[in-house]
Amino acid sequence: MVKRKLCEPLENCKGNLYFDGFSVEDLAQKYDTPLYVISEKQIRENYNRLYNAIVSKYKDLRIYYACKANANLDVLKVLQSEGAYFDAVSPGEVFVGLSSGFTPDHILFTGVSVRNDELKFLVDAGVTVNIDSQSELDRLLKIAVPSTISVRVNPEVGDGHHDHCITAGPQVKFGLCEEAVLKVYATAKKARVEHFGIHMHIGSGILKVDSYVQAVEKFLGIAKRVHDELGIIFDFIDLGGGLGVPYHPNDEAMDLLEFTSKVVSLFKSKVKEYSLGKPFLCIEPGRYIICDASILLTTVNTVKVTPYRKFVGVDSGFNTLIRPAMYGSYHHILVANKLNSKDSTMFDVVGPLCESGDVLAKDRELPQVVEGDVLAILNAGAYGFSMSSQYNSRPRAAEVMIRQGKPVLVREREQFQDLLTRQRVAQQGE
Ligand SMILES: Cc1ncc(COP(=O)(O)O)c(C=O)c1O
Repeated sequence: MVKRKLCEPLENCKGNLYFDGFSVEDLAQKYDTPLYVISEKQIRENYNRLYNAIVSKYKDLRIYYACKANANLDVLKVLQSEGAYFDAVSPGEVFVGLSSGFTPDHILFTGVSVRNDELKFLVDAGVTVNIDSQSELDRLLKIAVPSTISVRVNPEVGDGHHDHCITAGPQVKFGLCEEAVLKVYATAKKARVEHFGIHMHIGSGILKVDSYVQAVEKFLGIAKRVHDELGIIFDFIDLGGGLGVPYHPNDEAMDLLEFTSKVVSLFKSKVKEYSLGKPFLCIEPGRYIICDASILLTTVNTVKVTPYRKFVGVDSGFNTLIRPAMYGSYHHILVANKLNSKDSTMFDVVGPLCESGDVLAKDRELPQVVEGDVLAILNAGAYGFSMSSQYNSRPRAAEVMIRQGKPVLVREREQFQDLLTRQRVAQQGE
């Protein structure tokens, strides 16, 4: 059995799993499953660890939390109280950010394939837009001339835990390559835009700094050309998100010290060498902030042994957590009341959906699981709830946050009635 050393907010109390001080079995009993449990304390710790590591090297720092990872209002409020900024990839996310209390000057929008009415919404909301194409800028300028424009650069170096998550390089749809970047800034300058930023985001789930270093080097070279050839001064330079976290017990965490000493030092030295002034250094982490701050609790419905395989059937499928089905991602699973169990059996952990791909873990050694056991799926905070769906007409899970030392329901479980929301039956003659 692959053992995972438990560290905060997880604890082994006489063989029973506790999360941020609470028995997960008690939480599952009180709130039912599937249930996402979130630790406020862990969010704050993650944010501050990252902030302190970078700010010690470069003081003009802004951390934009990428809310696509988890847009729960309470998560956003916690981060807002820490001084975070807010990264949105859709107008809906801008709406959620504003609703949670972020002010427009703290919100950055980075979209792709943006509609005209969405551009109008962003202009009216007063948030800064990262331009993704010449067409987007041309259409935006017909609506209004914003005071600030930033451009998403494709530095042609990408990385990520899966092909779907690599967002820079020759094959991807995101951002603009070098010559096109210069043209977009020239257009913005001619239109009398006054303030500028520049942005890249090369991918998600990056555990080694080398690709990041390469991308930053190329990216800042492009920033230098924009500065030298167009006289543009950047208020901010945004390196995007992507910092990975370990999911498998054998994964090594990204070395934060290495990240700051290589990436931030490179940033600092190039900004000086290229005379880029005193821009804010911005980063946009999502996963790093929220991933290990939440677990998914799910109950075992059936244990089924066929001549070929042993299945543990639980009440969460890829409707609740899609990462294993979508990316083949590994999520460590603990049986809540059997942490000290010595014996183990190989199981496939499967969900309740009518899909053979509805598998949360394949060939996983677990203690002797029985019906009614509660399983904890670790590292479920990033791209867990936010990617969940009502597929197979299954209502979405509830979310509980351990907030100021006690569990609080921060998202109610959906009910059958929610499956009918916004549907209308066509009337005769319509
Ligand atoms: C533009 C942008 N910024 C930031 C992020 C956050 O990435 P991560 O959660 O890997 O830090 C993403 C996610 O892919 C993104 O698309």
